[in-house]
Amino acid sequence: MRYKTQSVAYWYFALAMILFGLQLVFGLLSAAKYLGPDPLLNLMPFDVTKTVHTNLLIVWVITGFMGATYWIVADESRSELYSVKLAYIQLVIWAIMGVTAVIGYLFGYGTGNKLLEQPLPHKLAIVVCMLIFLYNIGMTIKRSGRFTTTEGVLLLGLGSSAVLYLPALLHYENYVVSIYYRWWTIHLWVEGVWEMIQGSFLAYLLIRLSGADREVLEKWLYVIVGLVFIAGILGTAHHYYWVGVPTYWLPLGGIFSALEPVALVGMAMYAYFSIRRRGIRHPNVLALHWTVGSALFTLFGAGLLGLAHTFPAINKWTHGTLITAMHGHAAFYGAYAMIVMAVISYALPTMTRNRRVEGSAVGYWAFWLQMAGMFGMTLSFATAGIGQVYLERVLGIGYLDVQLKIQIHFIMLVITASLFAVGVLLYIYDFFRHAPRLEPVDENELFPDAAPPRGPSQFDATRPAAAREGRLHEQTG
Ligand code: HEM
Ligand code: HEM
Ligand SMILES: [Fe+2]
Repeated sequence: MRYKTQSVAYWYFALAMILFGLQLVFGLLSAAKYLGPDPLLNLMPFDVTKTVHTNLLIVWVITGFMGATYWIVADESRSELYSVKLAYIQLVIWAIMGVTAVIGYLFGYGTGNKLLEQPLPHKLAIVVCMLIFLYNIGMTIKRSGRFTTTEGVLLLGLGSSAVLYLPALLHYENYVVSIYYRWWTIHLWVEGVWEMIQGSFLAYLLIRLSGADREVLEKWLYVIVGLVFIAGILGTAHHYYWVGVPTYWLPLGGIFSALEPVALVGMAMYAYFSIRRRGIRHPNVLALHWTVGSALFTLFGAGLLGLAHTFPAINKWTHGTLITAMHGHAAFYGAYAMIVMAVISYALPTMTRNRRVEGSAVGYWAFWLQMAGMFGMTLSFATAGIGQVYLERVLGIGYLDVQLKIQIHFIMLVITASLFAVGVLLYIYDFFRHAPRLEPVDENELFPDAAPPRGPSQFDATRPAAAREGRLHEQTG
């Protein structure tokens, strides 16, 4: 942590961690309801627990994005943040918005528009937070006079996310129109502008963790962002197959969404080759696990499992089933939960006191238990979904009868999700067990003996001597 004001990121991350833990409680509650009997039926039915589960997900991930951005922009622009006070005001409004929204859902207060259930006052609070946030980041960059490509892509992603939230502020009487615009926010977030945020975090981390040059990494960042744009925008049509709009959306959705994984393959190759070709130059191997892990898990969850049900001929059977939940979990986790945990893992050694730069055993247990748990959860949803599609949609057996027949997969889900939850608890424990550091510190002074775990590869002759010697050398350029 080279700048004092970067410590605001700690409080954003801390809030994100608490909400992440709470999200899992409501996930497990939702899963348990599939197995029944449900003693909480009248108090907290499934629609309420699921709404709270998914809304907490969105709030904690965006909290993580905000914290990570404050951390990264200071580093990239080599400057203190423009206003710490504004950053804290934003955090307080944001936290109050998130917590009261959840309390509201418990009492049935919400719009019912999936993932965008926030009532209007909450939506307005979100807009206020975004404006404060973008102003603060923009002014930091302007004042510093240093604006990198990584920051450009990050700002484009954040700014477009705010603009794409605007359709969600309006109320539409017609259900088809309502659904039509819902995807402008949800789809264009997760398969468009959030991928820019993920891409820029990935570039920031790879520039620091691997031996690859900034020029090369940032050039590829442009290519990835271009691919996301080309495929992602018209790919929105994969949500328009069965909602009451003209049939020309069917081929458009099939063709363009099938192209979306290309950008994700690019992103995974980008991460893999930066390490493989250029070696590791930073001792924080735990952060490296999360970074490369995020790129690979996105390829699996979003690329492969998204492609699996994106053609109209398949989607007409799988639409709105547990196949969607299978993909939703793996994609959201790989792309957005993991990249937030990657930035946190990178920042923690200098953001908190007395921590080892290379990560602790608890940190690695957290990583691998989450990997195993989420993989198992994805398979449980997948097998449940295949059973559901065949019994319900092919054989025509009623919904509830089918649910009884696929209970074994939900037992699997609860077991694997528990494993996953242990991994998350360990991550949260590892986060909080060291006190935050509120004053700036130089990495090289803090970890003078730290060296990358693997020596420089044959390609590394051109790297600066300090980096080859294993010092935590800050990349210029
Ligand atoms: C990081 C990227 C992605 C994330 C986080 C993500 C997440 C999600 C989520 C949460 C849903 C459920 C939405 C709802 O019903 O409200 C969904 C649906 C869907 N996703 Fe993705 N997705 C991603 C990328 C992709 C990609 C690349 C493809 C295609 C290649 C894809 C194809 C689909 C399809 C076809 C549906 C609709 C399922 C249905 O008909 O029920 N997704 N996605
Ligand atoms: C303890 C771990 C978790 C459990 C037991 C769990 C369980 C569930 C259940 C039962 C549902 C409802 C599925 C349905 O509509 O039938 C759900 C929905 C969802 N969960 Fe989780 N979940 C967990 C963790 C997560 C994590 C870590 C993420 C993302 C990073 C996530 C993202 C989602 C999403 C996006 C949906 C909506 C999917 C859709 O509408 O198709 N969950 N979860
Ligand atoms: Fe989509």
